[in-house]
Amino acid sequence: MKITASFLSVASVISLLPTAKALVGSSWSVTNVPSTGLTDITFPLTIVEADHISGYYFAQQFGFVNLSDVGYTGLQPRPDQNGKAVLHGVFSSFVAGSTTTDPNCTPGADGGPGVSCSFEWNGVYGRTYDLEVKNNGSTLWVGTAIDTVTGARIHIGSYTLPAGAGGIQSSQLGFVEWYPWNSGEPANHCALLPYQETVFGHPYTTHLGSVGNQSLAYEYGDCVGQVAFKTEELLIGGVENNCGFKGQTGV
Ligand SMILES: *[C@@H]1O[C@H](CO)[C@@H](O)[C@H](O)[C@H]1NC(C)=O
Ligand SMILES: *[C@@H]1O[C@H](CO)[C@@H](O)[C@H](O)[C@H]1NC(C)=O
Ligand SMILES: *[C@@H]1O[C@H](CO)[C@@H](O)[C@H](O)[C@H]1NC(C)=O
Repeated sequence: MKITASFLSVASVISLLPTAKALVGSSWSVTNVPSTGLTDITFPLTIVEADHISGYYFAQQFGFVNLSDVGYTGLQPRPDQNGKAVLHGVFSSFVAGSTTTDPNCTPGADGGPGVSCSFEWNGVYGRTYDLEVKNNGSTLWVGTAIDTVTGARIHIGSYTLPAGAGGIQSSQLGFVEWYPWNSGEPANHCALLPYQETVFGHPYTTHLGSVGNQSLAYEYGDCVGQVAFKTEELLIGGVENNCGFKGQTGV
């Protein structure tokens, strides 16, 4: 799934949604972003509950000054290994001309131009991972998952954008996708959606005077009204959303 947009307002969000099989969207914005863009942004993300199977993708998109294509960072559940939970961290670029020398990364993204990076570790469900996107000089960007309990920094990947790329723009979207349906939907697929509950925290940056806000989630796509979707703003900060049905596996 890919949403291309250089900036978004609430009114324009609906028309910019992808036709792919995403389920839930949630826009974010940051105040006081310089015209050159931010040199870092961090997206707190908590998978409160999801089955330990592949299929869900919880992601945040970000755009760059002077580029129309976006990057993603996010988390995906994976089957347990040796009795331990496994999370799959993603950091990608859909920008043509992106390059990488990072062992966690490969050329191409969703079958198009860009770079895809991923790294798996014994992540913990219910724990918040701060997904940091940080410039490391010139047009090199590094994706890191920070474990908010242990402080461990988990390297997901890094890529270099084409010359002329600026920093991170002030607004974009997060999304929840059940990606197996991108390659074919079973009959009555909406009723087969596994349960998930996630929290998209308010994004933050080291840029002085900038404040990030994650807006309430909304559902879209072809299962609207059929997957028991709920969203609420949490008193502790951030936006919770849940959808799907316990015991289902998507097929
Ligand atoms: C970031 O830059 C520092 C200093 O140049 C370098 O040591 C480090 O390897 C870079 N990180 C990545 C992921 O390229
Ligand atoms: C973006 O492009 C404009 C026009 O080419 C240029 O003047 C500006 O320096 C670029 N911004 C960045 C951050 O590279
Ligand atoms: C910030 O997000 C909250 C939900 O977390 C939403 O109610 C509010 O409208 C948002 N504010 C702005 C300025 O977007």
